[in-house]
Amino acid sequence: MTEAKAPYARGGSAEDASVEEAGLRFEVDGEIATITLARPDKRNAQTFATWSALARIGENLPEQVRVVVVNGEGPSFSAGIDLRMFTPEGVPGQGSFGSVARQDQASFDTTVERAQQGFLWLRRPEIVSIAAVQGHAIGAGFQLALACDLRIVADDVKFCMKEPALGLVPDLTGTKPLVDLVGPAKATDLCLTARVVGAEEAYRIGLAEQVVAPGELAEAVQEKAAQLLSTDRDAAAATKRLLRGAPGRTLEEQCAAERAEQGLRIRALFARGE
Ligand code: ACO
Repeated sequence: MTEAKAPYARGGSAEDASVEEAGLRFEVDGEIATITLARPDKRNAQTFATWSALARIGENLPEQVRVVVVNGEGPSFSAGIDLRMFTPEGVPGQGSFGSVARQDQASFDTTVERAQQGFLWLRRPEIVSIAAVQGHAIGAGFQLALACDLRIVADDVKFCMKEPALGLVPDLTGTKPLVDLVGPAKATDLCLTARVVGAEEAYRIGLAEQVVAPGELAEAVQEKAAQLLSTDRDAAAATKRLLRGAPGRTLEEQCAAERAEQGLRIRALFARGE
């Protein structure tokens, strides 16, 4: 396994922090990339630097990668946003919500949009992302798991959308996948009560594809990655485009999209066979 040399400058700001300084590890092994939240002593709490580093990993993802695993070191996947952001001192080099609150809406949009870019790329058609989730996945941690295509969880998982309890809304791209997965009524229940969802319920309502014992999580994720790599790369990307686009299309539009993708596939296969 090779540890990707981060093409990121070192510096004091969230944007400049290296992957390691942002509390992450990024490794590429053939067609599988692994992102590890690596601040277990702080339960993998996330900062602006975390999201900025995630965005840069997405922007620089090696082309051969087809599966991206997102996992967290230690007992918790992620305890959400670093609570120091709510203190007057904030996180060293990154300020606090106090400073963010003084931004006008346009600057605020830019700040949050950059953070959201750390999550959005995990849905790209060219890859399948898998969140390997154990222990707490709170707030931004829950949203990071939701940003992935699939969630394989340990039976001690505790999902919690805590933002509304703290006077905030979930804004790290999590609301749409949550509604898509569990429907608006259940999403309302989960968000507006900020209650904890354990493994059994997560599996039952479609938040998790698979539940395993904590000690079996890594192996289960590797098995899923191997299964995902067993299909044709281009056909997998085209199929993911179709599946992702399906909720926003009528049946007729979806049929047209299937024909368009299949035309490309057939022509590519025929050209390959010649
Ligand atoms: N931000 C900063 N530090 C954190 C965070 C966090 N979100 N979560 C945990 N830590 C730190 C603790 O301060 C503690 O540090 P210390 O050892 O220096 O005192 C260390 O991580 C371990 O935390 P414990 O609370 O001792 O761990 P435990 O396993 O008992 O509990 C739990 C884990 C339940 C996750 C608890 O830490 C917690 O409730 N954290 C806050 C969760 C939260 O409210 N997150 C914000 C969600 S909203 C959003 O993300 C936008």
